[in-house]
Amino acid sequence: MQRRRGDLLDISGLKVVFDTYAGQVKALNGVELWMNHGERLGVVGETGCGKSVTALSVMRLIDEPGKIIEGNILFEGKDLTALSEGELNMIRGKDIAMIFQEPVAALNPVMKVGAQIVENIEWQRKSAAQERGSPLQTVQIMRDMLKFVGLDWQRTENLYPHELSGGMAQRVMIAMALSSKPKLLIADEPTSALDVTIQAQILNLLNSLVKETRTAVLLITHAMGVAAQFCDFIAVMYAGNVVEYGSLHAIFDNPLHPYTKGLLKAVPKIGRTDELQSIPGIVPDLIDPPSGCRFHPRCPHRGPACDKAQPRFEPVGGESEADRHHVACFLYQKDH
Ligand SMILES: Nc1ncnc2c1ncn2[C@@H]1O[C@H](COP(=O)(O)OP(=O)(O)OP(=O)(O)O)[C@@H](O)[C@H]1O
Ligand SMILES: [Mg+2]
Repeated sequence: MQRRRGDLLDISGLKVVFDTYAGQVKALNGVELWMNHGERLGVVGETGCGKSVTALSVMRLIDEPGKIIEGNILFEGKDLTALSEGELNMIRGKDIAMIFQEPVAALNPVMKVGAQIVENIEWQRKSAAQERGSPLQTVQIMRDMLKFVGLDWQRTENLYPHELSGGMAQRVMIAMALSSKPKLLIADEPTSALDVTIQAQILNLLNSLVKETRTAVLLITHAMGVAAQFCDFIAVMYAGNVVEYGSLHAIFDNPLHPYTKGLLKAVPKIGRTDELQSIPGIVPDLIDPPSGCRFHPRCPHRGPACDKAQPRFEPVGGESEADRHHVACFLYQKDH
């Protein structure tokens, strides 16, 4: 059996396709990703790279016309791809919770916030076959959670979702997600719809909650700057693959993949005098992706091998174990 690389989550060789009228979208092409309990992992990459599909695969929320065709998703050693719907319900929303970019859209518009959180706590208990708490206990948990995320419970519990500001709505979603004390919180662009100051507040809130509860966070963002502020490890995705993975230090101080280097050159920095550069070209159509390394048509270093085979995702020699630095690029493949 393959060695488990992360004690919380270990995704290996994950392939997901969507069968559409226009053809088969090869959305994930062998994703490799892992994390330990309590870690903060950022998944970055341009739009359409497969960040959300990766997250939805972990929640096993990939639905028709999509399917997982290959690979494993180990969660504390259990392969989520092999679990029944009943077994999944014991994990989903309980051990693994998720928050989204548009919090208001994820809430029920005709139910007051407090009642929704209470209903959610009861649903989690039921699906995890736990005993029901008394109604008073459940209400107390709801109020504690609202306080925990910095909201005034007396006011907030009686509001309807449309009465919440964007920042408040995201706090409510975080309260709801954390009420089950998950081991993993997946946050898909949780701050992209918020203005910059509220963005910072939500990231700070997530940070303190992670420290307090030791919940691991998988943060999806297209903004390198957000990942740098918040994460311990970074996975860079391109067109359905993790092309580089490592500690914050490894990715920011020693980026190796030409795509990572390109993303970093596009990040504005205070005091930066050189011009910001964008990566020429766009993420390819995944119905008919480029052969070999999917980045080769945009790559300034492409060689004769790059359109022939997919480079292996391998550890980078000489890096410390703690950096976990891995890259999928022929420039670093020793036998090449
Ligand atoms: N339901 C679907 N049907 C068909 N194709 C899909 C579906 N969902 C996702 N895809 C395709 O899968 C690929 C990966 O999409 P995904 O949503 O994971 O990108 P992303 O990295 O999250 O992008 P963004 O930053 O815009 O959120 C894209 O090519 C997308 O078109
Ligand atoms: Mg997305």
